[in-house]
Amino acid sequence: MPETTSTRPLRILSGIQPSGQLTIGNYLGALKQWVQLQDDYECYYCIVDMHAITVPREPAELRASTRMTAALYLACGIRPERATIFVQSHVSAHAELAWILGCLTPMGWLNRMTQFKDKAAKQQAESVSAGLFTYPTLMAADILLYQANLVPVGDDQRQHLELTRDLAQRFNSQYGETFTVPEGFFPKAGARIMGLDNPLVKMSKSETSDYHAVYMLDEPDQIKRKIMRAVTDSGNSIYFTDDPEKAGVNNLLTIYQAFTDETKEAIEARFAGKGYAELKKAVAEVVVEGLRPIQARYRELTAESDLIDQVLMQGAAKARLVANTTLNTVRERIGFLAAADRA
Ligand code: TYM
Repeated sequence: MPETTSTRPLRILSGIQPSGQLTIGNYLGALKQWVQLQDDYECYYCIVDMHAITVPREPAELRASTRMTAALYLACGIRPERATIFVQSHVSAHAELAWILGCLTPMGWLNRMTQFKDKAAKQQAESVSAGLFTYPTLMAADILLYQANLVPVGDDQRQHLELTRDLAQRFNSQYGETFTVPEGFFPKAGARIMGLDNPLVKMSKSETSDYHAVYMLDEPDQIKRKIMRAVTDSGNSIYFTDDPEKAGVNNLLTIYQAFTDETKEAIEARFAGKGYAELKKAVAEVVVEGLRPIQARYRELTAESDLIDQVLMQGAAKARLVANTTLNTVRERIGFLAAADRA
C-alpha cells in the first residue's frame, strides 16, 4: 500500500552543510528547533556533504567537518533513537532524485535564487560550478524523498523551500500524486542572526573575519571578546526594531531572546536605561551558558572513538529504506524500466 500522511506520523527533514564550524546562527535558526521537534515528529536530520562540495573543499577538512557536524547534532540533544541522523552522500537516492528534479526545473526558477547570486558574486565568474546553480534541486530531493511535512530552517532557506514546493506540485500534477508538499517551520526568535561585525549581513560559517560569528565550539573568552566588539550605533537606547541604523542592537537582543526564550517586552524592560556595554555583557553570559552543556557533551562524544561513525551508519540504513521507497515510485511514474537486479 502506498504510504500516505494519514497512515504515519508527520515527518520532518532538515540538514546543515559541513562547510566549516557551526555558528550560533545554525544553532538558533535550526538545531535548537530540531531538538524540540524530535519528540512529536518522525525526524530525519541530514549532514549535507554533497551540498558542501558546490564550492571547492579540502577532502580532509570535509571529512572532519562532517564528523564535527554529526557530533554537534548529538551534543545539542538529538537522540538517534528518536531521530535519524545520516550523511547525505551515504544515501545515493538523493543524487538520483536531484537529477530527475533537475530535468523538471526551468532554468528561470534557478536564476531567481538570491543565495546563488550572492555566493556566485563572491567567486570568479568562470569558477562558479554548475552544482552551485542546481543546488536547490538537490535540496528539494533531500526533502521530497522523505515525504517531509515540515522543514525547520532559518529565514535564508525560504526561497529554496518555495522552489521545493513548486517542484513537488509540478511533479504531482504531471505524473500523479507522489510527493508531500512540505511547509517551512521557522523559529519565532533567531530565524535570522546577523554578523556581529556587520549586522546588515547574515551570520555565516563561511565568513572569515575573526569578529563576524560566534561558533558553537568557541571558548567562553572568545565568545565574550567577540560579543563585546559587536558593532552597535552611536545611540544609547535598547529596544527591538527593524531600523537598519540599530541593526546591531536588534541583533544582540534577538540573540538574547533566542537563548533565553523570554518575551521581547521582558527583555526590553530588563535593559531599559542600561548602556550597550551592559547589554553585551548579558548577551555574552547567556551565549556562554547556553553553549556550555553542548560543548561539554561534544567533548565527551568525540572522546568515544567510533560512536559517531556508528550512529551515521545506522542512520544511513534507516534513511535508505524511506528514500528508496519514494525513489522507486518516482522511477516508475516517469517511465524508467524496472531493473530486475536493482539492489
Ligand atoms: P546551511 O548549512 O547554510 O545552514 C544550516 C541551517 O542553519 C540556518 N542558518 C541560520 N539561521 C539563522 N541565522 C543565521 N545566521 C543562519 N545561518 C544559517 C539555515 O537556515 C539552515 O536551516 N541549503 C541548506 C542545507 C540543506 C537543507 C536541505 C536544509 C540542504 N538540504 C534540506 C533543509 C532541508 C544550507 O545551506 O544550510
